Amino acid sequence: MTTVSEIFETMSYGPAPESDKQALEWLGRHAGQFGLFIGGRWIPGKLDATFDVINPATTAKLARVTQAGPADVEAAVSAARQAFPGWSGLSGHARARHLYALAREVQKHARLLAVLESLDNGKSIRETRDLDIPLVARHFSHHAGWAQLLESEFPGYRALGVVGQIIPWNFPLLMVAWKVAPALAAGNTVVLKPAEFTPLTALCLAELANEAGLPAGVLNVVTGDGATGDLIVRHRDIDKIAFTGSTEVGRLIRQATAGSGKKLSLELGGKSPFIVFDDADLDSVVEGVVDAIWFNQGQVCCAGSRLLVHEGVADRLVAKLRARMEKLRVGPPLDKAIDMGAIVAPVQLERIRSLVDAGVAEGATLWQPSWACPTEGYFYPPTLFTNVSPAATIAQVEIFGPVLVAMTFRTPSEAVELANNTPYGLAASVWTENINLALDVAPKVKAGVVWINSTNLFDAASGFGGYRESGFGREGGREGMWEYLQPAWHAAPRDQGTNTKSRVPKRAKAPAPAPATAHAPLPAIDRTYKLFIGGVQVRPDQGYTRPITSADGSLVGEVAEGNRKDIRNAVEAAHAASGWARTSGHARSQILYYVAENLAPRADEFAERIAAMTGGDVAAGRREVDATIERFFTYAAWADKYDGAVHHVPIRGVTLAMNEPRGVPTARLRVTRRGGHGTGERRRRDSLGGISTRRDGVVHGTRCVRRTGGGHQHRYRAEGRARQGAGGARRRGRGVVFRGSRRRNGSRASVGGQREAHLGGVAAARLDGRPSGGGARVSPSGDPGEEHLDPLRRVIRPPGASRLPEPP
Ligand code: NAI
Repeated sequence: MTTVSEIFETMSYGPAPESDKQALEWLGRHAGQFGLFIGGRWIPGKLDATFDVINPATTAKLARVTQAGPADVEAAVSAARQAFPGWSGLSGHARARHLYALAREVQKHARLLAVLESLDNGKSIRETRDLDIPLVARHFSHHAGWAQLLESEFPGYRALGVVGQIIPWNFPLLMVAWKVAPALAAGNTVVLKPAEFTPLTALCLAELANEAGLPAGVLNVVTGDGATGDLIVRHRDIDKIAFTGSTEVGRLIRQATAGSGKKLSLELGGKSPFIVFDDADLDSVVEGVVDAIWFNQGQVCCAGSRLLVHEGVADRLVAKLRARMEKLRVGPPLDKAIDMGAIVAPVQLERIRSLVDAGVAEGATLWQPSWACPTEGYFYPPTLFTNVSPAATIAQVEIFGPVLVAMTFRTPSEAVELANNTPYGLAASVWTENINLALDVAPKVKAGVVWINSTNLFDAASGFGGYRESGFGREGGREGMWEYLQPAWHAAPRDQGTNTKSRVPKRAKAPAPAPATAHAPLPAIDRTYKLFIGGVQVRPDQGYTRPITSADGSLVGEVAEGNRKDIRNAVEAAHAASGWARTSGHARSQILYYVAENLAPRADEFAERIAAMTGGDVAAGRREVDATIERFFTYAAWADKYDGAVHHVPIRGVTLAMNEPRGVPTARLRVTRRGGHGTGERRRRDSLGGISTRRDGVVHGTRCVRRTGGGHQHRYRAEGRARQGAGGARRRGRGVVFRGSRRRNGSRASVGGQREAHLGGVAAARLDGRPSGGGARVSPSGDPGEEHLDPLRRVIRPPGASRLPEPP
C-alpha cells in the first residue's frame, strides 16, 4: 500500500477506495442468491434457471439471479394487473407521497446503491455517487410532482394499465428511475426487466420501495436475458412497452408489438456528433470530449462518439486531446480518483476490440495513451481515431466503448452534413463562442437533444429521446408523462381481451399520514414570544405580546407584537434573501417537501390549535392541516415545472421566454372564528390560506413578509364598513396577498417591498391562458376583496378541476 509520504514524494495518486462493506452485507443478507420481486415479496427462482452476476472489474462472482420463464412473467403481469385498480385509483397526492418516499429511500441508501452499481456495472464510484444516484432521486421527486399535478395538468387523461419496461446495463438504476417514475406517477403498474449483466440495483430498489410502503404489485422486477424480455414484449395483458437498448432489439420489439394495441416507446442507439468550430474554447472542448466519450467508458447511448472539427484547429485540438488522454486514469471502479472503470462484460469488450480492429483495417490512425490498463477485469483504454473516412465502419456503427473517431470539416454546412450522416438521431453537441453560429447549426442537426458548449447533461425536467433509428418517445419532463397516459375516451378493448374499461378504479384513500407525536395542546408555562425574521427568532422591538383567545374567550396563546421597525427588519431580511430567487426550482421544491414532511408528524398538534382558535372541531382542523400538507406538495410539484415558453418568431432562431419572481410581497393572515365569542358571526380559520399565499410565492422564488392578524384586524373590520374607499383589502379584513390592483397597493405604502400583486397573477395567467406577468386580476364578482379570500382556490385551480380538499 502506498504511504502518504511516498505520495508526497511522487505526487502521484494514492489509492482512495470507497468501502464495499454495505453492499457486500446486502448481498450477504440474500446469501448471494436472488429470486424475483413480484407482488411485494421475493419469489424464489428455480434452481436450474439461474445465472451469475459478475463484477467486471475483478471477474469475481457477485450473485446468482433468476432467469425468469413464462410462469414467472405471467405471475409478475398478474400481480401488476391486480395492483392497477388500487394504484391508479389513488389520488395524485397519494401517489406523490409514495414517489416522494422512493426519492427519500434512494437518498437514504445512496451509498449502498452507488457502491452496488459500481460493483455490478464497473462504472466509477465518482459517477455513480455524484451523477447516477442523485439523478435517480431527482427523477422520483420530480415525478412525485407530476403525480401531484396529474389531475389538473393532464385532465381527461388516465393511466394505461400494466407497463412492461426493459432496460439496458449502461445506467442500470438510472434507467429504472427514468422508466418507473413517470409510469407510476401516471398511475400505471410496472413489470420491469433489468439487463442480465446488471440486475442488482433494480432488485435492491424494489426491496427498498417495498420497505417504503409502495403497495404490493405496483413495481415487479423479473430478471433474465433477452428471452425474458421477449416474454414481456409478447404478453397479452401488457398495455405498453418501454424499451431502452440496441436498435436491433428495438426493431424486433416494434415488429412484435405491431398491431397488438400496445403503446410503445423506444430509446435506442446513437452515434452522436460533437461539432467543434474554430472559434471554440479548445480547453473547454477537451474537457467536454472527456465527458462526452470517456464518461461511463463510452457506454452511453448519447455519447459524443464522432468528433467533427473545423480543419483549421484540428491539429491543435488533437494534440491537446492526446495530452489529456495521457493523464486519464483507468482502474478499480471503487477508487474515488479514477476516471474510467471497467467495461461491463467480456462480450462488450470483444465488440469494442473487433470494431477498433476494423477501424485500423480500414485505414484510420489509432492512438492510445502510453500507460497500460489493469490486466485483471475487463478494461479498455481511451482511444482516438483520426484520419477517418465518413463512410468507415467506426464512423457509422455504435461502438459503445471509449473510442472516439475524429473527422474534419471546412464550413458549417459541411459540419451539418457530416453530423447527419448516420442513421441515428439521438444527441449532438455544438461548440462555438459565436451564438449566431450555434443557433444556426443546432436546429439543422437531426438529433433529439442538442447541447451547446456542453454535453451529456440530463435532468428529470427535460425530455430525452431520439428520432430516426435512435427511437421515439421522450423520457423526463411533461413530454415524458404523455408516454404513460391515454385519453379517457381511448379505452376501446384491445384484441387480446384486455379491456381496461372494466377496470376503472375506485378512488382509494391516501396513505395514512405519519403518526402524530405526543404534545401538549397549549403551552403550560409562560414563554417568550418572538418574531421570525431572517431565518432566526428575534424579540419584537417593543417587547409586547398580544393574547390570542379561543372562540369562548379563553387564552390560547400569545404572539409577539411587531411594530414598524420589526416590519422594516422583516422587509430588509426578505430583500437580503434575494439568493432564494436564484435557487433552482428543484432545491425550492425539496425545501417545500421538507416542510410538508415536518408538518405531517405534528398534524394533530396543529389541528388542535386550529380547533382552539376557531371554535371548530379537531377533525375539521385535521382536514385543514392535511389539505395544507397536500398544498405544500402541489407547490413543491410546481417549483421545478413553472417553465417559460419557446416562441416561434419570423426571424432566425427562437425566443426563449422565462418567468421570474416579482420580489417581496406581503401576506396578511388572520384568524377568524366560527360562532365567535360575543359576535355570533361566522368566523373563518386561516392557517391554510396563509400557506397558500406564501407557498405560491416561494415556489417561484419570491420572498414573503407575512403578518398574522390581531386586534388591528378586528378593529379594521369593526370600522370597515365605515371606511369604504380606504383600501379594499384592509377595509374588508380579508387581505391575503396584494394582487396588483393599484387601489389596494396604494394602501400598503408603509409596508415597503414590492407591493404590486403578482403571485397569483403569474399563476393565473398561466392557467387562464392569459399572458403572464400581468398584475391586476378582477375577480368574477368584480369585487377585488373577494379575490383575496383564497388565492389558491381561485387562482391555482383551473375551472372544473376541483381536486383540493375543501377547507373546513
Ligand atoms: P440489447 O438491446 O440486447 O439489451 C437491452 C435489453 O434488452 C436487455 O435487458 C436485454 O435483456 C433485452 N433484450 C435483448 N433481446 C431482447 C428481445 N428480443 N426482446 C426483448 N428484450 C430483449 O443490448 P446489449 O446486447 O446489451 O448491447 C448490444 C449493443 O446495444 C451495445 O453494444 C450497444 O451498441 C447497444 N446498446 C445501446 C444502449 C442504449 O442505451 N442505446 C444500451 C445498451 C446497449
